[in-house]
Amino acid sequence: MWPIIQAKGCSSCHGTNGGGFSVGSSKSTFHANTVGVASTSCPGNTRIVAGDAANSFLYRKLAGTQSCGERMPRTGDYLNATQLNTVRDWINSGAPNN
Ligand code: HEC
Repeated sequence: MWPIIQAKGCSSCHGTNGGGFSVGSSKSTFHANTVGVASTSCPGNTRIVAGDAANSFLYRKLAGTQSCGERMPRTGDYLNATQLNTVRDWINSGAPNN
C-alpha cells in the first residue's frame, strides 16, 4: 500500500497538508493520518475505515467513486486495476500498520 502512495506522487500535493490532507513521510504516519480519520473535504466521510474499502473515502477517491471533489491523483495518473485491488484488499484485511 505505502509503496503505491510513494510511486504515485501523492506527496507532491499532500506533503504538507495540501488539499487539507498530509500523506505523511512514512508508512506509520500515513496510517495515523488516514485510518479512522475524518475527511476534511467531504463531511461525514472517513478517509480509511479499517475492514471496509467500499466506505473508505480515500479508496473511493482512487477508484473514482467519491462523493466530493476530484478523482486522485489529480494529475490523472490513476491507479491501474492491480494497484486498486492491492489498496482494497489491504483496507478489507483491516488496514494493518505493518
Ligand atoms: C496534483 C495535486 C494532487 C495529487 C498528485 C494528489 N492529490 Fe489528493 N487532493 C488534491 C486536492 C487539491 C484535494 C482537495 C480537493 C478534492 O478533493 O478534489 C485532494 C483531496 C484528497 C483527499 C481527500 C482528503 C480529505 O480528508 O477529505 C484524499 C483522500 C486524497 N486527495 C488522496 C490522494 C492520494 C492517495 C493521492 C495519490 C494517489 C493524491 N491524493 C494525489 C490534490 C492532489
